[in-house]
Amino acid sequence: MHTKIVLLGYMGSGKTTIGHRLANELKLPFWDLDEVIGQMFGMSVQYMITRKGELYFRECEQKALKVVISNQAYILATGGGTPCYYNNLEVIKNSSTSIYLQCNPGTLAERLVPEKQNRPLIADIEDDFMTEFIAKHLFERNPYYQQAHYTIDANNSPDIVLEDVLSALD
Ligand code: S3P
Repeated sequence: MHTKIVLLGYMGSGKTTIGHRLANELKLPFWDLDEVIGQMFGMSVQYMITRKGELYFRECEQKALKVVISNQAYILATGGGTPCYYNNLEVIKNSSTSIYLQCNPGTLAERLVPEKQNRPLIADIEDDFMTEFIAKHLFERNPYYQQAHYTIDANNSPDIVLEDVLSALD
């Protein structure tokens, strides 16, 4: 039975939604890394990135990751960039079962355009260029995401994605 599960994937891939539902199914505690960072450092991730810069955020993110994975059981929804900095990917893979929620750039752009203002890294990207921007960003990040233990097609509805995650873990 998997009791330490980490969800990886780009912004908008459904890490938080699926993570919550998976935690309910498996009766495990759910953590959202952005929320943990907010609580540990007393400010939202959005505020932190815009006011303190991305580098400071990445340092806090690494510290928060280590706190969560020191627990005995968890479902953790990471931030989209978490596995791509420092040795975070190694830390995740050595401690937990990792699952990449894979989405196509078009799916992600559709989900992210309406809420881009809440996401500092893409807030300034013009709507018409969002798919292209995400495609390039995914090209850089895929080598990290693809090292997860399992890859799940997350272009589908949450019900199907959850079912596919549960079958992979079976
Ligand atoms: C980021 C994704 C965000 C958040 C921060 C940086 C990224 O999390 O950690 O804005 O680098 O992709 P979500 O993937 O939960 O949106």
